[in-house]
Amino acid sequence: MMLSELARLQEIRRIGTERTDEIARTLTDAFVDDPFSKWLFGKQQEGLEPRYWHWCCANHPASGEIHVVGDLSGVALWYPMNLTKDKKLVAVEREYERKYQKFCKELLADTGLENIYLRIIRQCDKAIPNVPCWYLGSLGVERQSQGKAIGARLLAPMLQRCDKQGLPAYLDSSNPRNISFYERLGFRKHHKPVSVKGSPPLTPMFRPPLKPLEAP
Ligand SMILES: CC(C)(COP(=O)(O)OP(=O)(O)OC[C@H]1O[C@@H](n2cnc3c(N)ncnc32)[C@H](O)[C@@H]1OP(=O)(O)O)[C@@H](O)C(=O)NCCC(=O)NCCS
Repeated sequence: MMLSELARLQEIRRIGTERTDEIARTLTDAFVDDPFSKWLFGKQQEGLEPRYWHWCCANHPASGEIHVVGDLSGVALWYPMNLTKDKKLVAVEREYERKYQKFCKELLADTGLENIYLRIIRQCDKAIPNVPCWYLGSLGVERQSQGKAIGARLLAPMLQRCDKQGLPAYLDSSNPRNISFYERLGFRKHHKPVSVKGSPPLTPMFRPPLKPLEAP
């Protein structure tokens, strides 16, 4: 393989929703062993989780950002929070939130967990600091590529941008194993873990902007 081709497969770039099928597959594979996803969606063969990721990728709001590694082995879904005062855009974001909750309620209807999940979402929402920030809604690297620094590279462009613009970043970690990974990138536990009726904990984490290096 040519070096330039290799570089292209490893480069981190922003895409739209046109690669939904592939990136939804990546996220489905990445989350196979995730404690929260296993609890919520049950066995993968029941098909709820692929449908969940497909919806999230296909409906990702235009104001958000989808970052991928060139070969699509890793995906990060970012959402702006409190970043706009434009009434029309705020209304679009609220409408997205409403559609998301409606979709989850229908998707989970047969699991008996739909109302518990909506309570979890509400508790997580309450923990979000009321400041403009970027929210990392989902991050996943397919299993065979995990542990090769793709996750850290995937987050770099948005974290650099946050630093440059003086904006915080925020997330809810669905796996305690990831806490040290996020801490290395500057996130700190921000709120006590969210758990409803014995659900695996989601740990809210907040990353204040780092002071960007002064230009020489
Ligand atoms: C978490 C994740 C995005 C990190 O990306 P990555 O490319 O594997 O991670 P990096 O190589 O940049 O960093 C490695 C760190 O990731 C964390 N990690 C979590 N799950 C991991 C896994 N299955 N394999 C390797 N590292 C993992 C560890 O903290 C690890 O650090 P350590 O080796 O010191 O324990 C990726 O492992 C993944 O997709 N995991 C499953 C889905 C998930 O947990 N998503 C995040 C939900 S909040």
